[in-house]
Amino acid sequence: MKNKTILITGASSGLGLQAAKELSGQGHEIILLCRNQEKGNAAVSDIQSFSGNNKIHLYTADLSVHASVAEVAGKIKKDFTKLDVLLNNAGAVFDEFKLSADGLEMTIANNHFNYFWLTHYLLDLLKNAGNARIVNVASDSHYKAKNIDIESFTQKKKYFVLSAYEQSKLANVLFTYSLAEKLQPFGIMVNALHPGFVYTPIGSKNGNAFFGMVWNTASKLFGKKVEDGAQSHIYLAGSEEVNGITGKYFHNCKAKPSSAISYDQRLQDLLWKESERISGFPFL
Ligand SMILES: NC(=O)c1ccc[n+]([C@@H]2O[C@H](COP(=O)([O-])OP(=O)(O)OC[C@H]3O[C@@H](n4cnc5c(N)ncnc54)[C@H](OP(=O)(O)O)[C@@H]3O)[C@@H](O)[C@H]2O)c1
Repeated sequence: MKNKTILITGASSGLGLQAAKELSGQGHEIILLCRNQEKGNAAVSDIQSFSGNNKIHLYTADLSVHASVAEVAGKIKKDFTKLDVLLNNAGAVFDEFKLSADGLEMTIANNHFNYFWLTHYLLDLLKNAGNARIVNVASDSHYKAKNIDIESFTQKKKYFVLSAYEQSKLANVLFTYSLAEKLQPFGIMVNALHPGFVYTPIGSKNGNAFFGMVWNTASKLFGKKVEDGAQSHIYLAGSEEVNGITGKYFHNCKAKPSSAISYDQRLQDLLWKESERISGFPFL
C-alpha cells in the first residue's frame, strides 16, 4: 500500500503513537485523532522527526463523548474526501464506576461506543476510498468475558475494573465481526487485533495509584516493547498481504480464533441493535 490516508485514534501515546510513526515512515498521510491538543502537538513533532514525513494532521476530541465524536468527524469530512484506513486504537481502563457525559459507563463508552460512533460518522469517507480498511484494537482479555451485559452499560451493578475492560474488548471483537459482514458489499475490510501485553501507560491513567504502580512495574518487566506491540497495527493498516482478508482476529500479524462467544451471532446482533438504540441512529 502506498500513499494512503490513515486515521489513527489515541495516537498521542503508546501503541497508537508507535503505529503513527512507522506508518508515516512508510510515506502515508496520517490523521492523528487525540484527546489533548498539547500531547497531540508533541506527537506530531515526534512523528515528523522520526519519519521526515510532513503529511501529518491533528484533530482533537473526547472519544468517550458522542457529540465530540460527531463534531470531529464533521471537521474531518470537510477536510478530506476519502479515508483508506481507520485505525480504532484509543482505549482506557477505569478503576471505578463512572458515567460518561452520555450517561454510559465509562469503559464501554470509551472502548466500544468510541469505535461504533467514529466508524459510523466516517463511513462515507471509507466508502469513497474503495477497498478501505478498518482495524479495531481489541485484546486477548476478551477471552475472559463470558457475556455482554447491556444493563451494565448504564447501571452500577457489581463493577470490577478488569471485568468491565474484558467486556469492552469482547464488544470490540463482536463489533468487528458484525461490521465485516455488513461492509462486505462496499469492499471495506474489517479486522481486530491483540497487540500482546505491552509496556504503555494505559494502566496508570485513571485513578488508583496502586493499580497503576502494579501495571507499570509488571508491564515494564514482562511486557513487550511498544515497537513490537504495534506490529499488528502496522501490518493490518499497511500491508498488501491483508488485501481481501476481513472479519478476522490477529495477534503477532497472524489470524487466530477469538473466544467461542465472540462468534455467537445472537450476541453480535444484540450488541449491534443495542448500540444503535443507545446511540439514537441506524448505523447504515
Ligand atoms: N498495552 C497493552 O498491554 C494492551 C493490551 C491489549 C490491548 N491494548 C489496547 O491497545 C490500545 C492502545 O492502548 P495503549 O496500551 O497504547 O495505551 P495508551 O498509551 O494509554 O494509549 C491510549 C491512547 O488512547 C487515547 N485515549 C484514551 N481515551 C480517549 C478518549 N476518550 N478520547 C481520545 N483519546 C483517548 C489516549 O490519550 P491520552 O494520551 O490523552 O491519554 C492515548 O493516546 C487500547 O485500545 C488498549 O485497550 C493494550
